[in-house]
Amino acid sequence: MAFTKKTVRDIDVAGKRVLMRVDFNVPLKDGVVTDDTRVRAAIPTIQYLKEHNAGIVLMSHLGRPKGDGPEPELSLRPAADKLAELTGYDVKFVDDTYGEKAAEAVAAVKPGDILVLENVRFLKAEKKNEPEVAERLASYGDVFVLDAFGTAHRAQGSVVGPAAHIPAVAGFLLEKEVDTLTSIFAEPERPFVAIVGGSKVSSKIGVLDHLIDSADTLVIGGGMAYTFFLAKGYKTVGTSLQEPDWIERAAEMLRKAEERGCKILLPVDNVVTDHFGEDAEGEVVASDSIPEDRMGMDIGPKTVELYCEAVKAAKTVFWNGPMGVFEIEQFSKGTEAVARAIAASDCTSIIGGGDSVAAINKFGLADKMSWISTGGGASMELVEGKALPGVEALLDA
Ligand code: 3PG
Repeated sequence: MAFTKKTVRDIDVAGKRVLMRVDFNVPLKDGVVTDDTRVRAAIPTIQYLKEHNAGIVLMSHLGRPKGDGPEPELSLRPAADKLAELTGYDVKFVDDTYGEKAAEAVAAVKPGDILVLENVRFLKAEKKNEPEVAERLASYGDVFVLDAFGTAHRAQGSVVGPAAHIPAVAGFLLEKEVDTLTSIFAEPERPFVAIVGGSKVSSKIGVLDHLIDSADTLVIGGGMAYTFFLAKGYKTVGTSLQEPDWIERAAEMLRKAEERGCKILLPVDNVVTDHFGEDAEGEVVASDSIPEDRMGMDIGPKTVELYCEAVKAAKTVFWNGPMGVFEIEQFSKGTEAVARAIAASDCTSIIGGGDSVAAINKFGLADKMSWISTGGGASMELVEGKALPGVEALLDA
């Protein structure tokens, strides 16, 4: 499916001031960026604009501040410094977003300059998309570029607001993310194997429904598998994560998958323990005989074999969500084995954001994947088939 919105390639930016929304919502420790993936991902568009002689005003949120004023630990300054370090460009920063100080700094931006504004969420009105936010931000640019894929599902002032006032187009990251995450479902090379993990069925209902419609095989792992066990009629899952209110819905999904010819793979064995913690010891039990006082923490070795076989046979793999509690060494084997199987395969591999990205980075496999989404919630909404407000607001191609 081709991207249907205008991009920076479709407009003349030379000599213009471009207001660009990026997603610099990066993890920080002691004021230093600990994962610069999102900053790196914005560089191609920034580079293009600079090379085409535009003055660039960048804005982003970072974290979830209260919105009552500056919160120094959520300042965007470290992200601006990281951009300067990665590009070698002179990147200016102003510790203001909507006030006179910001307006003056923006007015001084000349073609080729780069200015980063302070965290857009230091003002409540931003999240509520109040008109004065959109007007103020739009006054900073001749053109608006949205490249913040990770935030494109939020109908907030800095994401959708400027498009009501100035021409609005997509950056390269947004274009590539939307294109990749939609075309994988429209025309996947088959067999198409989707792997979904994570703790809750309830938080991924839309995604699971959509995958049953398009995948040949749907592999389920993580905490959500235990609710599926109950849906299959297993007597107990012990003290494992479970969502009693979703058992019937999970059963309905199993029926729907059978009707559609989508094969569902559930764990056949699990690593269980008696309590949750770094010191917990695991033992392997069959999925239909988890003891009453044990909780599942990972998929077991037979399941690993089964899932890796499915990956080996795939031409396309979509993965979202870990297979177990991979943050704890002794329960990380299932997630690691699946990640390594995808990395070793020559299939097209699309990683749909969130915890699976953290897992891939932990195992050092990022460069072995075809595409790793920079969006968590945004990529899930796209996979569910929902329209993203930020994308909708852009000019049609
Ligand atoms: C993310 O990290 O998923 C995006 O930056 C969006 O952040 P938000 O969930 O706080 O809106």
